[in-house]
Parts: sequence; C-alpha cells; structure tokens
Amino acid sequence: MTIWFMTTNSGKVAEARHYFAEYGVTVEQFEFEAVEPQAEDLETVALSKVEQAIPHLPNSDDMLLVEDAGLFVDSLNGFPGVYSSYVLNTLDVHGILKLMNHLKSDDPIQDGNLRKAEFRAVAVLYKDGQTIVSEGVCPGRIAHEAVTGDGFGFDPIFIPADLDEDGDSLPIGTIGAKSTHGMPFGGITLEEKQHYSHRHRALESLLSNLDRLG
Ligand code: IMP
Repeated sequence: MTIWFMTTNSGKVAEARHYFAEYGVTVEQFEFEAVEPQAEDLETVALSKVEQAIPHLPNSDDMLLVEDAGLFVDSLNGFPGVYSSYVLNTLDVHGILKLMNHLKSDDPIQDGNLRKAEFRAVAVLYKDGQTIVSEGVCPGRIAHEAVTGDGFGFDPIFIPADLDEDGDSLPIGTIGAKSTHGMPFGGITLEEKQHYSHRHRALESLLSNLDRLG
C-alpha cells in the first residue's frame, strides 16, 4: 500500500516513513503547494489542503495524507498555533525564546508551568471520496535555550513531558518511566522522538481507523 504524503517538509516524511514502515505501508512525498487558508483550527486548514490536492493526485484511487501541526504556547494564549509556519519563517525559534524571556522561575515546576506548551497535529487521510481525521497532542514546555541537532522547526526549543509506563504524558515536574531529562526534541534521535510525537500519535489514531476507508 502506498500513501502520498502531501508536504514540502522532508523531516515530516522521514517521520511518517519510519512510522508506517512497520505496517508495510510505503510513504511517498507529494510535493503540491496548497494555499494555506486563514483559519482558527488545524482541522479546517488540513481539510482545505486535501480538497485542493485531490485533483492533482497521480491516480484518482490513490491515498492522500495531509498533516497539519502547530506549537501552542500557554502563556502566549496559544500563539503561534495555526501561524506556526509563518512565525518560524519570520521570528524563528529565537524570536519565541525572546517573547518568553521574562517567564522563568528558580523553582523547576513553576518554571515548567510558566513555559508550558504543546504540539498538536491533525492528520487527514483521503481515499475515493472518503476522509478520516485524527488528532495527536504532545504536551511539554519551551526550553530556555535552543539546542543544535538533527530536528526541524521548533524541535530545538520544545521539551516533551515525561511519559508513564503506558506512554501517556505526565504533568510537568513528574519524573516518568520515559524521559528526555530536559532535552528538547532537537537533541534526541528520531526513534526517541516517536515515543512522544504529536504526529506519531495522530498517525497511530489514523491507522486504528483505517478500516473505515473500506
Ligand atoms: P505544518 O504547517 O504542519 O508544516 O507545521 C507548522 C510549523 O510547525 C512548521 O514550521 C513546522 O516546522 C513546525 N512543526 C510541525 N511539527 C513539528 C515538529 O514535530 N517539530 C518541530 N516543529 C514542528
């Protein structure tokens, strides 16, 4: 089975390939640049991109995957959210760090709560006129400094919350069975990121509903 993943971000393709490989599903990059609508939520954005891309699929019965993500920072009222791409291109991760410079505390739990944020991803899979939509969330916090590493986007500054034995995210300040020990996504491997990733969670939920596409 092949899924066309519509994105210009090869980092996202690598993550999806890594995930779907264990199910014997091949992921191909579909480089179509859809117009991003101004919308308040990720689902509206993702569904609009699917609609724009359908006429351009190589074969009409191909499967199309669109995934839209964003970083939502609590103290910034959810900013950059649906504007994450634009903000990354204009302010960069250092701009976000600057906006949050005053949010710090010597108490690690309070510091984490002041800098609380989450990644959200909405994935839409389309086939033969039918769509399934799923969501994945990764809670965490914004680091005080950016790390250099292999990640993309906001990876250098996003620290995921620890996980319990079942892989569920824990409240800030709780030491979990799985932890990056304060290291942002940008400083860990792709394999490690998959345990926490919003995208991974959205794709997992999508796969569990795959039978709905017939
Ligand atoms: P997109 O519009 O879904 O491609 O994502 C919006 C912005 O969030 C882009 O600038 C991405 O680089 C960034 N982003 C999405 N997912 C991740 C991630 O897993 N890590 C870091 N940045 C991400």
